[in-house]
Amino acid sequence: MASAAVCSTKEQHQEEERKKQQDASDQLEIGEVHDVQELQRLCAAEDVPERYLREGDDRPGGANVCEQAQIPVIDVGELRRGGGDELRRLRLACEEWGFFQVVNHGIEGELLDGMEKAAREFFALPLEEKQRYPMAPGGIQGYGHAFVFSDDQKLDWCNMLALGVSPASIRRPALWPTTPALFSDTLVRYSAEVRALCAVLLAHVAETLGLAPGTFEGMFGGEAAVQAVRMNFYPPCPRPDLVLGLSAHSDGSAVTVLQQDAGRVGLQVRRGDAWVPVHPVPRALVINLGDSLEVLTNGRYKSVEHRAVTSGEHDRLSIVTFYAPAYDVEMGPLPELVADGEPCRYRRFNHGEYSRHYVTSKLEGKKTLDFAKIN
Ligand code: OGA
Ligand code: NI
Repeated sequence: MASAAVCSTKEQHQEEERKKQQDASDQLEIGEVHDVQELQRLCAAEDVPERYLREGDDRPGGANVCEQAQIPVIDVGELRRGGGDELRRLRLACEEWGFFQVVNHGIEGELLDGMEKAAREFFALPLEEKQRYPMAPGGIQGYGHAFVFSDDQKLDWCNMLALGVSPASIRRPALWPTTPALFSDTLVRYSAEVRALCAVLLAHVAETLGLAPGTFEGMFGGEAAVQAVRMNFYPPCPRPDLVLGLSAHSDGSAVTVLQQDAGRVGLQVRRGDAWVPVHPVPRALVINLGDSLEVLTNGRYKSVEHRAVTSGEHDRLSIVTFYAPAYDVEMGPLPELVADGEPCRYRRFNHGEYSRHYVTSKLEGKKTLDFAKIN
């Protein structure tokens, strides 16, 4: 009798354990895709699932990482003061890199820290909490994995929270975290500052092209211009040599503003055949030009490919703002930037259509822009 009771308790216990494990592994799935923070907690180096393991040139390490070069640093204070030298340096940065870090950008360190803290607190929540803001399959906002469209596609070692910020019509308040309590307020304040910085940068970029400073902002539809944020959290990875944090891609925006942790290198920028790691300058923001500017300048300024790698030791957070024309804006090279005799390299198209194309394609280098290329 006593032993039967013990036995049944043991069976019950085993059954409970089995169920717990099943629940845990069910929880790992968001749609068909693992939650990498959970994966990282549970998996040893030899267990990194095959779907994360890259081949050949797609692997992070290797000879084609160029440690010598560094993306330019631009002083926005100097640009505001009308510094001609700084404007020339900005033109070179746009022509030769498509990427630069900005200092003296005018956004308070306290606000940057507040946004980072709120984002970190969000990613540190238990999975069930974060899943209260789920990215629908094929959706682009919420917590989950964007850009996954097939079972044989390689996966990125990254968890994402993506949110539309403006215009108001793209905001999905139900997907804005209520924990930590300051998240939404901070994001609203942060986004206003980042947007103002985008306007300043676009005005100076226009100047480098000999255009009136208001050219881009004027075209982008004012209040209807699109601003979205994606927070990327890269947990440490047991096989950083084989895995990518974020696949190589160009951004579908006009301009992108990336905030990242001081001292944590992960972003790499394409330069010819090589990848150049970005070493964060403390309190600087990383700026890159997106596909819209490549089209508008008829390819004079390129939307440069980039990717993120992971680290075996530390996690990394990036807070990325995408600023783009309103969905109804007609895109195409600006006639004044197509010199006599120069071919027009991109067709005219509706920006909303391109946005849809971008978010329904996997991240694959500069392939998305084939949408607009005239060969
Ligand atoms: C992006 C991006 C790089 C990074 O989100 O588009 O390029 O370092 N992120 O997180
Ligand atoms: Ni990007």
